Amino acid sequence: MNETIRVFAPATVANVACGFDILGFALKQPGDEVVLKKRDGKGVRILAITGDDGKLPRDVRQNTAGIAASSFLNHIEAGYGLDIELHKKMPLGSGLGSSAASAVASVVGANALFGNPLSREGLLEFAMEGERVACGAAHADNAAPALLGGFTLIRSYDPLDVISIPTPDKLFCTVIHPGIEIMTGDARKILRKDIRLKDAIVQWGNVAGLITGLMTSDYELIGRSMQDVIIEPIRSMLIPGFQDIKNAAVEAGALGCSISGSGPSVFALSRNREIAGNAGKHMAQVLRNLGVKCTLYVSKINKNGPVILSSDVR
Ligand code: HSE
Repeated sequence: MNETIRVFAPATVANVACGFDILGFALKQPGDEVVLKKRDGKGVRILAITGDDGKLPRDVRQNTAGIAASSFLNHIEAGYGLDIELHKKMPLGSGLGSSAASAVASVVGANALFGNPLSREGLLEFAMEGERVACGAAHADNAAPALLGGFTLIRSYDPLDVISIPTPDKLFCTVIHPGIEIMTGDARKILRKDIRLKDAIVQWGNVAGLITGLMTSDYELIGRSMQDVIIEPIRSMLIPGFQDIKNAAVEAGALGCSISGSGPSVFALSRNREIAGNAGKHMAQVLRNLGVKCTLYVSKINKNGPVILSSDVR
């Protein structure tokens, strides 16, 4: 009893330009940490949250880490309860899958504390419960890569069918986060519910091209396919200097650039670290010129996903 585990789960880039709600990949940093402790009694309690400026709900039924852990405990009919500490180590409402990282760290830790009754894949539906409450939609394109690592495709939601896509070893991601918050629920409400057939044709051509490019390490094809004619034209209006940031990334040699998840972060993919770093400098300069503070991350694709940082589970 009182066994404790500390788990890190990574930030993720969802949509990856053309794949709204179906594509995503994990970054090495940033990410969230969750500490879970088994205790006598039933149910989940959130004892502490740090790094959120008091913004996240402490109520288990409204907190993504709490919901994910509770639904997992109900599923396995756990005989014990759990206490959670959530340490936010990335900005909220950033488009970097903050709620998914918390939910994933929570279910991975809970699973380990109870002797790993479920596989990593089997935990996805519980992490998605957290997303449903945090964003109003149980999308899996942050939770799946945060949980499984690497680049994932949600081939189907019903039934859930998640495919891991191999990526070139040298692929690097640049993310620039302007210091503003956009809540995913709000960024979903502004989208059109219907799309034109001619836009759908462009979009599914690009999805297929992007997947093929990743699987064959064809960098030119990856770049050509990073186009979004459906979501980006609408959401980019919420991001200061978006078109200039994108132009700066591509002029610096990035393969392509688009909105990370529901924004406001903007990401670019590059064929090596040097170009990714250089693209980041130019992207950041656009925001500085506009007087907007920003944070820059440069990361390889994180192929491992969550990490157990410490554990005294016997
Ligand atoms: N696919 C989701 C969206 C990701 O774009 O709304 C949110 O991070």
